[in-house]
Amino acid sequence: MSIKAEEISALIKQQIENYDSDIEVNDVGTVIEIGDGIARVHGLDNVMSGELVEFSNGVMGMAQNLEENNVGVVILGPFTEIREGDEVRRTGRIMQVPVGDELIGRVVNSLGQPVDGNGPIESTNTRPIEAKAPGVMDRKSVDEPLQTGIKVIDSMVPIGRGQRELIIGDRQTGKTSIAIDTILNQKEEDVICIYVAIGQKDSTVSGVVETLRQRGAMDYTIVVNAGASEPAPLLYLAPYAGVTMGEEFMYNGKHVLVVYDDLSKQAAAYRELSLLLRRPPGREAFPGDVFFLHSRLLERAAKLSDEKGGGSLTALPFVETQAGDIGAYIPTNVISITDGQIFLQSDLFHSGVRPAINPGLSVSRVGGSAQIKAMKKVAGTLRLDLASFRELESFAQFGSDLDKATQAKLDRGQRTVEILKQGLHQPQRVEYQVAIIYALVNGFLDDIPVEDVVRFEEELHAYLKQHGSEILNHIRETGKLPETDEFNKVISDFKNTFVVSE
Ligand SMILES: Nc1ncnc2c1ncn2[C@@H]1O[C@H](COP(=O)(O)OP(=O)(O)OP(=O)(O)O)[C@@H](O)[C@H]1O
Ligand SMILES: [Mg+2]
Repeated sequence: MSIKAEEISALIKQQIENYDSDIEVNDVGTVIEIGDGIARVHGLDNVMSGELVEFSNGVMGMAQNLEENNVGVVILGPFTEIREGDEVRRTGRIMQVPVGDELIGRVVNSLGQPVDGNGPIESTNTRPIEAKAPGVMDRKSVDEPLQTGIKVIDSMVPIGRGQRELIIGDRQTGKTSIAIDTILNQKEEDVICIYVAIGQKDSTVSGVVETLRQRGAMDYTIVVNAGASEPAPLLYLAPYAGVTMGEEFMYNGKHVLVVYDDLSKQAAAYRELSLLLRRPPGREAFPGDVFFLHSRLLERAAKLSDEKGGGSLTALPFVETQAGDIGAYIPTNVISITDGQIFLQSDLFHSGVRPAINPGLSVSRVGGSAQIKAMKKVAGTLRLDLASFRELESFAQFGSDLDKATQAKLDRGQRTVEILKQGLHQPQRVEYQVAIIYALVNGFLDDIPVEDVVRFEEELHAYLKQHGSEILNHIRETGKLPETDEFNKVISDFKNTFVVSE
């Protein structure tokens, strides 16, 4: 049997060709180490930072640390089935989530997959979750109000569309309730809401969704849930997924409100995955880039210029403090990034002042220019009145002989505190808020017993609905106060019908 030279050369050529195709080592790697939610992968030489990779059992991961000999991958799903030696493939895609109208009314996870059992989401559009914030020229200053429907916020710490306002307080001080009430109040405001729940109990989140559904707020709301039982990477990603879904609407000229409840838990999740990736820890064991974690998220809130469609994305980040310490690392970081903060205090909450907002420590740096004129006018002195009341209150405990002016200030202060209280899920439209604050600052309540103040407010609103609809319409449509005589007359007419309790 003779050996043909051509055959041999053909075989060799074939071998060489196969050798070439076999050696595509850049796109497939192997797991060399696996830990809690983290894998180290060898052989993904060309992988991009933030690229999605797929493990051999279908679980997705995201390339994070690109090191000399290996790549640190965070695993976006169950990691117990992944073993050392498993294959990992590149996908060539940066992490994306579905966006568009199809998501409205749905509850999704950080990857945009539905978790509400209502079938798949038929969205054809996606956006990468890391995007650059709108530039300086594409923005405009905040000039439209975002009405929360909460009197103490809308009057003293007003929020504008496109603003970033931090809501900060200890646990169980009514933070989530503020988010829910604000979302409920957007019913007739044409604002799309996105509630991002990070590291919360699934039972709490399902309670929130149920409340929103019952009151018809799911018609314009998306809930992104990364529950406490999910792996840390999903908690880390949830806010970016939420803001990405919001951006789609903003760039289409719509108004969006995104609530991040809360960023302390996101920071803790990021710390966990950073430590597992062996990034050097810094203050409070957070990695060095924890500031960037939040700044790049909150910078994506914006009010777009008219040329860009005039849409807006308002961000309400939440931060949980320990024992009211707003000087800790994450709180100070986020305070410095946002345009103001609303500070909730547990002692106020427990003394029955709910919402437990401390107006002295709360501030809104840009919302004032977006407040409607009528509200600006009536609420102008509220903050000072309250501050001087608090001062006098502690002072007045020691003596009973108070001069008339001091007593009057105390009386007004007590009624102001009463008026600024507000029950759960009872957001008020701005014209009703203006009416009661107008009555308050013009002394109509001064001779009403404190225990009757709440009833006075309820009955005044009911009366105005019947007999003062022109006044309410005037405030709503023009944003200005009606004629003083006219306004005073309606309120006095009402007051004459009001029966003081025994
Ligand atoms: N304005 C209010 N009037 C009456 N009750 C309220 C008010 N706001 C909140 N609550 C009650 O206070 C409790 C805590 O509220 P919420 O869950 O909003 O607080 P939180 O700060 O988000 O708590 P957590 O730290 O557990 O997330 C709830 O039971 C809620 O019903
Ligand atoms: Mg909460």
